[in-house]
Amino acid sequence: MAILFNETTSTFTLLTKQSMYQMKADKYDVLLHTYYGKKGAAYDYSYLITYADHGFSGNPYEVGDDRTYSLDVLPQEYPVYGSGDYRPTALKIRYPDGSCACELRYAGYQIKKGKYALPGLPTVYAEEDSQADTLVITLEDTRKLFFVHLYYGVLEDLDLITRSVCIENHSESPLYLEQALSTCVDFQHGDYHIHTFYGRHMKERTQQTNLIPHGIQSIGSSRGASSHQHNPFFVLTSPQATEDVGDCYGFSFLYSGDFLALGSKDQFEQTRIVMGIHPDNFCWHLEPGERFYTPEAAMAYTAQGMNALSQIYHRAYRHNLCRGKFKTARRPVLLNSWESVYMNFDGKKLIEMAKDAADLGIELFVMDDGWFGKRDLDVSGLGDWYVNENKLGCNLRELSDEIHALGMQFGIWFEPECINEDSDLYRKHSDWALKVPGKTPVRGRCQLVLDFSREDVREHILNQICQVLDSARIEYLKWDFNRSISDIYSALLPPEKQGEVAHRYILGLYDMLEKLFCRYPDLLLEGCSGGGGRFDAGMLYYTPQIWCSDNTDAIDRLSIQYGTSFGYPISTVGAHVSQCPNEQTGRITPLETRATVAMAGTFGYELDTSEIKPEEKPIIQNQIVEFKKYYDLIQDGLYYRLTSPEDLPACHGWEFVKEDKSEALLCVVALQIPPNASRCRIQLKGLDENKIYLVEGEAYPGSVLMNGGYLIPHATVEYESFRIHIVEKNRD
Ligand code: DGJ
Repeated sequence: MAILFNETTSTFTLLTKQSMYQMKADKYDVLLHTYYGKKGAAYDYSYLITYADHGFSGNPYEVGDDRTYSLDVLPQEYPVYGSGDYRPTALKIRYPDGSCACELRYAGYQIKKGKYALPGLPTVYAEEDSQADTLVITLEDTRKLFFVHLYYGVLEDLDLITRSVCIENHSESPLYLEQALSTCVDFQHGDYHIHTFYGRHMKERTQQTNLIPHGIQSIGSSRGASSHQHNPFFVLTSPQATEDVGDCYGFSFLYSGDFLALGSKDQFEQTRIVMGIHPDNFCWHLEPGERFYTPEAAMAYTAQGMNALSQIYHRAYRHNLCRGKFKTARRPVLLNSWESVYMNFDGKKLIEMAKDAADLGIELFVMDDGWFGKRDLDVSGLGDWYVNENKLGCNLRELSDEIHALGMQFGIWFEPECINEDSDLYRKHSDWALKVPGKTPVRGRCQLVLDFSREDVREHILNQICQVLDSARIEYLKWDFNRSISDIYSALLPPEKQGEVAHRYILGLYDMLEKLFCRYPDLLLEGCSGGGGRFDAGMLYYTPQIWCSDNTDAIDRLSIQYGTSFGYPISTVGAHVSQCPNEQTGRITPLETRATVAMAGTFGYELDTSEIKPEEKPIIQNQIVEFKKYYDLIQDGLYYRLTSPEDLPACHGWEFVKEDKSEALLCVVALQIPPNASRCRIQLKGLDENKIYLVEGEAYPGSVLMNGGYLIPHATVEYESFRIHIVEKNRD
């Protein structure tokens, strides 16, 4: 059992392969957080707490004149606003009388086999009950109006602990949840670095490291989506931690909407981190008898450095978050029409491209934006999900049949959540868009956002999508979302429920994705939000891959994909070879380098096939053969970051290693060609020190490749790349 309860000490200890997490209901029934870190004896770690009289740190009433007991100082499992704890807290509730001061006390627990699920929300799951245990600790508010049920999922072998919180109103009156975060962890001792992943459209998930200050270091999104600007994943490390060694804690939020994550050091040098739905656009009206579930946070710990932490998330998310056929089935190499023809195409042009693509060995042809309604520019058409047969010159069945006749699958683009004012749908149902009465809405990319908190709106859009999907042979769907949300107001909800709209929107999105997922189990879904504006663990529950960025420049992608790799597996990273010079940056890179970078992802192409030069054709054909050959190694192997592109090394490298260490693929891109310089050395990782490996015909012990390293050939053209296959000698 991975969950231990010690009745004598009232400690709950959660154990995974490497980590241990502990809480304790103390003598006042306050649930303290006593330990999170390396696995060891399930001792009562509350001995580490210092009780002292601290000025201006008040004391709960029941402790009498014991001035050494203060919630302002104690490490707590789920701290609440108004309890005398002045640090950032996890829960803030407005009571029927308008007050917000709250105290929670321990009321009981339950331990169950298997992993809990959450209604309408994505969660990490266990394939079998034996893979996970669930602990539910119940706290009750001292005014006896509601319960707070703390959920813990312990996935021992995956080395993951998940958390969620359920607030249950058992009073006669409504309560308002003004803040209900999903996790909080207090660290009593030590300094910590917080590694976050910031960016913007076309430059997502750039790694940033800061020492948690006295005060607050916070990131978040109030854009209605997890956003390009900050990712709902961060890592906390000891200042000494590196890629290969040191204490690392990961915090990943399985949610695609507004989020808040922060780290804060208090007056006594203690660090608190919290993560959950951003309170800015949130206020949930909880009626008597109702329950509210927060989205899940997935936490991991290792003493083996950042790379090992990433590998925990890679394994868990690939196998226990992504679902359906394409969790494991090989995904087809695709050609996407966007960067080559944008919205300027007809059926004839698409078929020409598809013919070229088939010739190259491409397996799936994706028709991106521009095929529906009145859609030749991005100012119109969204909402009208019927095929523009005049533009195509045929119907969708004919088009998809022609593509299948070429031996390829067919895919299609949708942006279900948005609407143009110039659309039939808007002319009929202008109240379906998120708009505040009496105020003109903010437009983004000339479009508004549909009110996905409304079931009728979702049902209409889903029916349209299903009609399209049922009308032709379609194996792939790209679900795009191209703006930040504003004007959060739903025409159907009363004023006291308007604070729920942003979260209801995300629940609506998940509801629709779930329906699509269940109705079309063989459909490959790719998430997208102007590239990687909603690249989060919530979406991965529905779409096993997400278009990583609208920036397809191979060199910029090094940094974007590097940052993404901290929290997400390679199999989820949508990556394509695009044309040259690059559409976004004008940069010229070798075709092979573009493939090397796209192979660290789902791999596909996004270029005008009619412009492929004759000498490039066999190169592309070989790339596809090579990708398919290495598919399992890339998607299922252990991923190692060998350098950081942020350090601007002469050569930037990464590596995929088969779990049994019999094979690896080393990928390197030359970022500089220093004149008259020594060859660039890259030290490999993850090999067996005692095995002999063949590299380009030479035999090396694993220890030599890892300690001494491998000398990369001199680059002869700018941004040249190398894909070096390493295989154990005498392997069958
Ligand atoms: C943004 C996406 O990221 C692109 O790949 C493309 O699908 C466009 N939207 C289409 O409008």
